[in-house]
Amino acid sequence: MLVLWYCLCLLGRICQAIPSVPTGMPGVNMPLIGLGTGGHWVRNSSAVYEGTKLALGLGYRHLDTAYGYGTLRDLGKAIAESGIHRDELFITSKVPGGLDGPATTAVVKESLEALGLPSVDLMLIHFPAAWNGTGGENRVAAWRALERAVSAGQARAIGVSHFCPRHLEEILAVATVPVAVNQAEYHVGMFGTGVNKTDGIAFDTAHNVTYESFMPLCGQCRDPELITGPVTNGIGHKYGKTGAQVALRWLVQQGIPVIPRSGNKQHQLDNMDIFDFELSTEDMKSLDKFSNSKLSGSGGDCDVA
Ligand SMILES: *[C@@H]1O[C@H](CO)[C@@H](O)[C@H](O)[C@H]1NC(C)=O
Ligand SMILES: *[C@@H]1O[C@H](CO)[C@@H](O)[C@H](O)[C@H]1NC(C)=O
Ligand SMILES: *[C@@H]1O[C@H](CO)[C@@H](O)[C@H](O)[C@H]1NC(C)=O
Ligand SMILES: *[C@@H]1O[C@H](CO)[C@@H](O)[C@H](O)[C@H]1NC(C)=O
Repeated sequence: MLVLWYCLCLLGRICQAIPSVPTGMPGVNMPLIGLGTGGHWVRNSSAVYEGTKLALGLGYRHLDTAYGYGTLRDLGKAIAESGIHRDELFITSKVPGGLDGPATTAVVKESLEALGLPSVDLMLIHFPAAWNGTGGENRVAAWRALERAVSAGQARAIGVSHFCPRHLEEILAVATVPVAVNQAEYHVGMFGTGVNKTDGIAFDTAHNVTYESFMPLCGQCRDPELITGPVTNGIGHKYGKTGAQVALRWLVQQGIPVIPRSGNKQHQLDNMDIFDFELSTEDMKSLDKFSNSKLSGSGGDCDVA
């Protein structure tokens, strides 16, 4: 089996048994695990280039970037040098929120040039407004610009990020192309903190918008309790897995794609190695309820006008 896997990998056909889930865009499926390239890697060219090269070599085929990270060229270089066929990759990028239609269109074009690619698999609006909260009145115009990007063959699917139900409602009211994905912060320990994520997920799912988790390992919140604390580690012990693997498994077992960022070879391997075990219903429930008051979640997003 391992030999077959390796041979297929060498042939560049099927590189790993990473399952995919459908997005809201018919025919566009998304691998459940990808490499995140934001957070501490923002504007760090070498971290993105080296980390992406390493990940592609280990079998990652799903990469997540954004115009705002300032490293599209570095990601594009790592992709080009990998020699991996474009059809085998799933690439997500994002345009900044708050931009009007023409500015959104210009960023799409500039992003593809920087990546050195004719199209991405998924283009998201990064935030319901600009980071400082202005420009929310442009949401629908920005969405329409992304729909034109689909018509122009620049994106196979389009979606949003950090959107609350009320932001998404504005888009759903006018969309002529399905909203494929909403990417939001979600990880173990957020129960009862910040935005009511359970409600957001239920809303997205009811509207066929695939909910994707960024910061699945809590990213910059760096709470060691999540990764090495008694809840996740205790559960992991039963399955021969680490606390981090349990935290990721809890998400993918709900059908939620995850994009952990790591430049460490062992962590990249561990993060992918979550498809050979299944958490019991009881363990899933205790992780659902895991609440850590030290976490802030991303409670601010729903305040964005
Ligand atoms: C960029 O990333 C590299 C590799 O992870 C790291 O060694 C370096 O310190 C980072 N640079 C900055 C300015 O953070
Ligand atoms: C908010 O951010 C936008 C986009 O970066 C910028 O154009 C605008 O001047 C900012 N407005 C304020 C009030 O800071
Ligand atoms: C949060 O979500 C749960 C589960 O869907 C729901 O029962 C609860 O009423 C929600 N809380 C608030 C404050 O909306
Ligand atoms: C969601 O997708 C299913 C299957 O394609 C379809 O039957 C249903 O009408 C869709 N729901 C909405 C709200 O678009």
